[in-house]
Amino acid sequence: MPDATPEGFDALWQQVDRIPGWLTPAQARLLHTAVRAVHPGPARVLEIGAHQGRSTCVLAAARPDVAVTTVDPFVRTRRYAGPAVRGLLGANLTRLGLEHRVTVLATTSADARRGWVGAVDVLHVDGKHDYWTVTDDLRWAAHLVPGGTLLVHDAFSSVGVTLALLRHVLPGRSLAYRGRTGSMARFVVAAPSAADRARMLAELPWWARNVVVKVLLRLRLRPLARLLGHTGRDDPY
Ligand SMILES: C[S@@+](CC[C@H](N)C(=O)[O-])C[C@H]1O[C@@H](n2cnc3c(N)ncnc32)[C@H](O)[C@@H]1O
Repeated sequence: MPDATPEGFDALWQQVDRIPGWLTPAQARLLHTAVRAVHPGPARVLEIGAHQGRSTCVLAAARPDVAVTTVDPFVRTRRYAGPAVRGLLGANLTRLGLEHRVTVLATTSADARRGWVGAVDVLHVDGKHDYWTVTDDLRWAAHLVPGGTLLVHDAFSSVGVTLALLRHVLPGRSLAYRGRTGSMARFVVAAPSAADRARMLAELPWWARNVVVKVLLRLRLRPLARLLGHTGRDDPY
């Protein structure tokens, strides 16, 4: 099983990178590190948005005593293929020998939260990205233990995700911003200081730049996106 050394992570990533998705290697390493850091074990992980398991596999491979619950209704949209994705997720977990560490709840995060009672050490939010859904997803943070970690993908790169963070986390008293790896923001359960809040606000120019980049990519104006430092065809992640 991959360990915490760079070699261990790199070997894991070679396997996981075959799974389609939007998680970057640096963000995968952040997920991996967060799960490894849980002390004492076992590590209890809750993920919103599994898709084919790119992030789920990283979370589950981080240590043998991890229990990952991942929630995804496997909706069919322009971007997502619907119920068939559940099978692809299962196949990927099996290929990496991780299926016994992962419970898949094929429902919405709001529905799963209604019946949820357990404590959570690491919460990964990467579900639907509109303001109202993310607002609801952030309520899962009430289940995090003191010192627990919240990781939010597409923070400061998506309008809905960022507005929900600004409205519900920035003025709150229980989550302190610790920085970001690309668009993956990291918070810990702790009283935020003025400096933590200022650090969040300091991300807003980067957010504005990313929104402009996304509009330019939709308009097929990649040369203009390049002027903003964005290379490649994908959205900024
Ligand atoms: C960006 S993808 C997740 C990517 C995944 N974390 C990875 O690393 O590949 C978003 C996922 O959220 C799921 N989703 C949509 N609405 C949801 C909801 N209300 N609750 C939980 N997941 C949802 C979609 O079905 C989709 O698979």
